[in-house]
Amino acid sequence: MEILTCFLISLSSFSFFSLSSSEFTTSDRTKLPLIAFSWWDDKGTFMAGETTTIRVKVLENADKIDRKVFKPILTVNGKEGNSSYISTILFDFDGDPNDWKIFFTPIRVGLFNVLINEDHYKVFDSSLHFQVEPGLT
Ligand SMILES: *[C@@H]1O[C@H](CO)[C@@H](O)[C@H](O)[C@H]1NC(C)=O
Repeated sequence: MEILTCFLISLSSFSFFSLSSSEFTTSDRTKLPLIAFSWWDDKGTFMAGETTTIRVKVLENADKIDRKVFKPILTVNGKEGNSSYISTILFDFDGDPNDWKIFFTPIRVGLFNVLINEDHYKVFDSSLHFQVEPGLT
């Protein structure tokens, strides 16, 4: 009997918790931007040393983004930001939120995946792959 009571108490406190946390998530979600990332010219193949552009298209809630705090992190081969794989990461988040840009310069030859995440607005994208061919140097 004591075990059953204990079980019921923990069960009810659990459902109370999950209800309130899902309500929080739902109301919070409506304020988050929905963003699509793609290669600027849709090709995804570059030469080492060439400036590469990612198109950042804000599909929903662009007006909720404070550009001063919106700082995506790019990760290539487990390395965040400027690394031995990519350099000169720069953002252009001015103007039309259908045409924001992230620039970087691939350094190493090979096939890579770039992860984009932004903690403040809960953005995560792992869809972008790119091929780097030897440069002209
Ligand atoms: C990467 O390096 C460039 C200079 O080469 C710098 O301007 C930029 O802020 C750096 N980007 C990041 C995300 O650290």
